[in-house]
Amino acid sequence: MQDRIETELATRIEESLAQRFGERLPVDPALAGLDELARIAGHRVHRDFLDRPIEPALLRLLCACALSAPSKSDLQQADILILDDTQQRRSIIALMPEMPWLARAPVLMVFLANGNRTPQLARLREKPFPNDHLDLFFNAAVDSAIVLTTFMRAAAAVGLGCCPLSAIRDQAARVSDLLGLPERVIPLAGLCAGWPAREGHITPRLGLETTLHQDRYRQDALAQQIDAYDRRRAAAHPYGRQRALERFGEAAFYGWSEDKARQYAEPLRSDFGAFVRAKGFRLE
Ligand SMILES: Cc1cc2nc3c(=O)[nH]c(=O)nc-3n(C[C@H](O)[C@H](O)[C@H](O)COP(=O)(O)O)c2cc1C
Repeated sequence: MQDRIETELATRIEESLAQRFGERLPVDPALAGLDELARIAGHRVHRDFLDRPIEPALLRLLCACALSAPSKSDLQQADILILDDTQQRRSIIALMPEMPWLARAPVLMVFLANGNRTPQLARLREKPFPNDHLDLFFNAAVDSAIVLTTFMRAAAAVGLGCCPLSAIRDQAARVSDLLGLPERVIPLAGLCAGWPAREGHITPRLGLETTLHQDRYRQDALAQQIDAYDRRRAAAHPYGRQRALERFGEAAFYGWSEDKARQYAEPLRSDFGAFVRAKGFRLE
C-alpha cells in the first residue's frame, strides 16, 4: 500500500516536471518527502476561489510558518499585513482595478520589506549605522520574498491556493498611506489566498538547459532555446489573445517571448524607484 502511494507520487512528480520543462526527470520512489516535492513540482497560482472562509487561526498558523523562513543575518526584515477590515480591503482592491477577481478572494495580505527595524536597533542601542545603502533595501526585499514563498508552500500543504500580486506596487504610495507604512517599509507584493475553485494548470517554464547552469554561465544557444520553449508552451497553453495589437499588429505565431517583449515595450512602474527613495531607502 505504502509502496503504491510512493510510486504514484514519484510518477506525479515526473509528469509535473515533464509538463513544466519538457523533460522527464526520473524520481526514485524511495526518496523521502515525495509529497512535498509533488506539491512544489505541481505548483500553480490560483485566482478563482470557493465561497469558503479561511479560519483566522489557520491563517495565523500559516503566517507563523512563513515567518519561520531563513532571514539574512537573522535580521528579520520581513512583515506580513493581513487585510481584515472590509473597507480597508475594498480600498486596496480598488487600486488594482484590472483584477476584479480579487474581491472574491477570502484572504488578502501584503508582504512587506522592512528596512526600518535594523536602523532602529542602532538608535535603541546607541550604535552607529553606516549601512544605509542599497544592500539594506535588497536584503529586506529578499527576506520578504522568501517569507512570501514560504507562505505559499505552507498554504499549498493545507490545500489552499494563492496568487502573489505585484500589482499592489502600481500605486505604491497610495498603498503605503492606506496601510500606514513607516519610513523604509514598502510593499513587496500582495497575496490573495483561498480554497481553490478549480484545479488550475501547470505553466511550462524555460527548459533547464536555459536556467540551470554548471560551472560557467552559458547563453550561446539562447535564441534557439527560447524558440523551442515558445513552441512547447504554445502547444500546451496557447495565449488566448495578443497584447497591444494596435501597436504591434497580429503575429502569425504568438509565443511567450513575443508576449513578454510586448509587455515590456511599455514603461511599467517607472515611478517605483522614486517611491522607494521617498520612503527613505538610499539606493547608492
Ligand atoms: C512576485 C510575483 C508577483 C506577481 N504578481 C501578479 C499580479 O499582480 N497579478 C497576477 O494575476 N499574477 C501575479 N503573479 C502570478 C504570476 O503571473 C504567475 O506566477 C505566473 O504567470 C506563472 O504561473 P504559475 O505560478 O502558475 O506557474 C505574480 C507572481 C509573482 C511571483
